[in-house]
Amino acid sequence: MTAPAIETENLTKEYPHGFLNLKKRNSLEGLNMQVETGEIFGFIGPNGAGKTTTIKLLMRLIFPTAGTARILGKPISDIDMHRDVGYLPEQPYFYDYLSAAELLDYFARIHDLPATVRKERIEKMLQKVGLETAGKIQLRKYSKGMLQRAGMAQAILHDPKVVILDEPMSGLDPIGRREVRDIILGLKHEGKTVMFSTHILSDAEMLCDRVGVIVGGKLRGVGAPEQLVGVKAKATEIFFELTGQSAAPLLAKATRTGDRYRLQVPEAELYDTIDQLRAAGAKILSAAQVRATLEEFFMDLVEADRAQAAAVEVSGK
Ligand SMILES: Nc1ncnc2c1ncn2[C@@H]1O[C@H](COP(=O)(O)OP(=O)(O)OP(=O)(O)O)[C@@H](O)[C@H]1O
Ligand SMILES: [Mg+2]
Repeated sequence: MTAPAIETENLTKEYPHGFLNLKKRNSLEGLNMQVETGEIFGFIGPNGAGKTTTIKLLMRLIFPTAGTARILGKPISDIDMHRDVGYLPEQPYFYDYLSAAELLDYFARIHDLPATVRKERIEKMLQKVGLETAGKIQLRKYSKGMLQRAGMAQAILHDPKVVILDEPMSGLDPIGRREVRDIILGLKHEGKTVMFSTHILSDAEMLCDRVGVIVGGKLRGVGAPEQLVGVKAKATEIFFELTGQSAAPLLAKATRTGDRYRLQVPEAELYDTIDQLRAAGAKILSAAQVRATLEEFFMDLVEADRAQAAAVEVSGK
């Protein structure tokens, strides 16, 4: 068995706060998480959940109060290992009088790429992120989407095995998000491991093999999106047409638009309901399973967390 691409063990970060910094607050509490090799892993959580804290810990920009983490089977203190890691910070700031090609050249030098391969690699990267015709334009003239793609190019310039992206889709319109999604999918096809944080749940649902949900500094669920939401009770929505008056009691529960109706029934009552509708002369137009979304799963967790926090506050007074 190969080691997970990223692995954290009891990773904890405590920040002092309050009067004279006398109080301590956990931004991240005992995180145990694995990102498998070759997967796209989404790290989702509301604002302040601890996503950036985790990513900064992995990148050694801050240091843990407790716990450890490994990337590619090596401790994160291993500087050589970090050559195989690409990183896009949250809201990156690049000197905006540089062009994208100049920015990438700067990073290529930091990564010790020899002069002979630099030019070709930079062109390839610009092409990969769809900036091949904009490489010579100064970043200050870029749109937000273009800047984000330049940031992605920076993160993958040195052909890392593991790519860690903090909110790569934030602030982008649907087109920009799609472009970033396509780049991420391309990375997966090249066999790279991608971990990214986001609070755009539909993007996570579309892209990720697995997601980790973090709320209030604690990991609250890990798994494939459909697996996470699958724990909810399933229902079926029946869409049917019925002309004229009918006394069928089921109709009281349905939503009506003209002669068309929508009715949600628990899975166990599906066939019985269809029989009743047919007996009443209804024409069934469709019957489809109502799938709980990642958003519902997420909102339930966040609401439960808020309720708990409120209860703690009240009892503490
Ligand atoms: N340098 C710091 N000093 C004190 N507290 C901090 C510091 N950095 C982060 N925190 C706190 O840690 C918690 C987690 O922050 P973090 O930035 O990891 O959240 P996040 O999940 O990335 O949120 P967002 O979606 O807003 O980016 C927050 O409550 C934040 O206020
Ligand atoms: Mg963040």
